[in-house]
Amino acid sequence: MSEAKLPERVATAHPLRHVAIIMDGNGRWARARGLSRLAGHRAGVERVREVLDACREHGIDIVTLFAFSSENWQRPVEEVHGLMALFAAYLRRERNDLVRRGVSLKVVGGRSRFSPRLCRLIDRVEQATAAGGTRLNLAVDYGGRWDIVQAARRIAEQVCAGGLAPEDIDETVLERHLCLADVPAPDLCIRTAGEQRISNFLLWQFAYTEFCFADCHWPDFDGDAFRAAVAEYRGRQRRFGRSLPAEPSRCSGSG
Ligand code: FPP
Repeated sequence: MSEAKLPERVATAHPLRHVAIIMDGNGRWARARGLSRLAGHRAGVERVREVLDACREHGIDIVTLFAFSSENWQRPVEEVHGLMALFAAYLRRERNDLVRRGVSLKVVGGRSRFSPRLCRLIDRVEQATAAGGTRLNLAVDYGGRWDIVQAARRIAEQVCAGGLAPEDIDETVLERHLCLADVPAPDLCIRTAGEQRISNFLLWQFAYTEFCFADCHWPDFDGDAFRAAVAEYRGRQRRFGRSLPAEPSRCSGSG
């Protein structure tokens, strides 16, 4: 996505183009209400639309949501089935709305454990929404370690086939083989529910990502909470390993 396509207000020194979110706390939200964990996840799905609206409001054109990690398969089988069913229902229900809002959906992660039916549904929704200018990446069966391993494996295959010399492998080559190779790294990662860890999300891409931690559970995370995280980001100085400039450049004005 070229800088020229971005709204005027985000084309600043430290634009906010890509937000990643770890949607945590569905289970605790449900328990506090005497509901099942699945009811918490269901309430969580309802928040996605509001977050997309808030991203549009701030001129953010890429959002990556951690919906199901490589490790989440270890949850009780009913919860895993329930989450997969919610994921499929989301794809069926939101497809037309995503097209209407100009959102292109990409599901990132392994697909070998999905049913053939779910794989076909993902392909159909990805194709139907491909022209959208706002990108929604749904990380499902995703793990940052898995992503780096699958990239390394593909690079090794190229080396074995004689198409690449080991000495030509650098960060750019590795990055090209990661799931999110076609978008810039997240500028901001928001995690809800008070936990402060990465949980095997975008390990490579988070090298210089700013983090905001919200205390509320994901089903309570609304437009105001999103705006508060954006405001916190605006107050940050991003240096990417460099020293402080004479005039500190803040992330302000970045949507
Ligand atoms: C973490 O809460 C949340 C998840 C593991 C799943 C997140 C999934 C959704 C919001 C629904 C899927 C979304 C889409 C768009 C299909 P937790 O269960 O770990 O909460 P807890 O830590 O309070 O138990």
